Amino acid sequence: MQPTTQPASEYVEFWNDTLAEKFDRFQDILMNGLSYHSRVPLERLDIVPDSRILDVGCGWGDTAIALARRTGSRGEVLGLDCVERFLEDARRRAAEAGIDNVCFITADVERYPFEPEYDLCFSRFGMMFFEHPVVAMRNIHKALKPGGELMFIVWRDIEDNPWLGLPKQVVLDFLPPPGEDARTCGPGPFSMANPEVVTQQLEIAGFEDIAFERNDGPVEVGDSVENAMRFQLALAPFEQDGRIVMGSSSWTITARKPAA
Ligand SMILES: C[S@@+](CC[C@H](N)C(=O)[O-])C[C@H]1O[C@@H](n2cnc3c(N)ncnc32)[C@H](O)[C@@H]1O
Repeated sequence: MQPTTQPASEYVEFWNDTLAEKFDRFQDILMNGLSYHSRVPLERLDIVPDSRILDVGCGWGDTAIALARRTGSRGEVLGLDCVERFLEDARRRAAEAGIDNVCFITADVERYPFEPEYDLCFSRFGMMFFEHPVVAMRNIHKALKPGGELMFIVWRDIEDNPWLGLPKQVVLDFLPPPGEDARTCGPGPFSMANPEVVTQQLEIAGFEDIAFERNDGPVEVGDSVENAMRFQLALAPFEQDGRIVMGSSSWTITARKPAA
């Protein structure tokens, strides 16, 4: 996997042996249904032609491929993710689109031996699962050239994300909460919801010009009630024109590595 002899962290193992299959099963919901949250930030992102870009936790590669189109044939994008089976899909997708300035590497972002060669690091929902968030941020800082930009999208609080909060509540009405020893994918989807905490983490990692922009909008959690219920539970009241749409809320966080 990554160029290191260290064993994979327990979270990376959990992504590979448990979550990857579930994510693949619901790829349409997770990649397309949630893309609302990256559409506007990506459109607004000013990408200098020929830039070198890193996409952290790139999953099935759709944002890495979009960035590769934007940076032009002399630019380059590296999509990095700890799950090889997601990247097999990403490579196939890039080949089908005829995009050859993107490549995908399986690695743990916390441990990958980056050189300071990237103008921009982007991530859509790929930053909330690190074993050591500040270590990962420091490593991303190391990957950026002086003056390089960071933009990443994370969920705001669960209360502002009923598409995740409501099914959780329904499940807890019927089942006991998971035990303390339950395996997890890391800190979790809401671990970067608090701007004060994330600002402090980014500052410790060496970033400046840190800003948060709130983004509220719909997410499509299924193309039929049946599929949505398979994805989660009890979503029928949210049906709109045959699609299942619920409220969601994210932060787009931007920061910069100080110029040398
Ligand atoms: C919620 S998914 C987001 C995927 C993709 N960015 C998207 O928006 O469709 C989180 C991704 O982060 C990856 N990931 C989690 N921890 C990681 C780590 N330590 N190093 C690299 N990738 C990681 C997972 O494998 C997964 O693909």
